[in-house]
Amino acid sequence: MKKAIVYYSMSGNTEYVAKYIADKIDADLIKIVPKKEYPSKGMIKFLWGGKSAIMGDTPALEEYSFDSSKYEYIVFGSPVWASCFTPPIRSFIKENRENLKGKKFAAFICNMGGGADKALDKLKNYLDISELSAELVLIEPKENRNEENEKKINEFIERINS
Ligand SMILES: Cc1cc2nc3c(=O)[nH]c(=O)nc-3n(C[C@H](O)[C@H](O)[C@H](O)COP(=O)(O)O)c2cc1C
Repeated sequence: MKKAIVYYSMSGNTEYVAKYIADKIDADLIKIVPKKEYPSKGMIKFLWGGKSAIMGDTPALEEYSFDSSKYEYIVFGSPVWASCFTPPIRSFIKENRENLKGKKFAAFICNMGGGADKALDKLKNYLDISELSAELVLIEPKENRNEENEKKINEFIERINS
């Protein structure tokens, strides 16, 4: 049985980590893209995306390939938006709720330094689970490619593989 990394990334941090991890654990990458992309520049991006996250929106998604029967382990990757996980990940979980039953879950979260724990709690809540098999919080990992972050990512990978 394989592992899948299901992620959304607006500015590349989550994508950078998703690709790094996928390579190490031989996982399939499933990139989630909303049909109507969120604004990605200026203050409007925080207002628009933040409001959407707080409201619990589930935007329509571009087509993706996810054959749940292939996977026993799903790793979610999301930025923090207004102390929440992102709406496109919410859409994915909503669309696949039945298919996700009985799977093992891990998650990594990228942020600027605030709200990651709340985002993880909301993700667990939405998945209807009390614990993730592994969790990882990183601050702007695309820019901060340092030893500390590499160590954290590798520990996360070890927990997934154990
Ligand atoms: C709409 C929006 C809301 C955000 N809210 C938060 C937040 O509450 N806390 C935080 O630390 N960072 C917040 N950020 C910053 C992102 O979580 C951070 O830059 C992350 O690394 C981006 O990941 P990405 O490059 O994969 O899109 C927000 C960014 C956006 C666009």
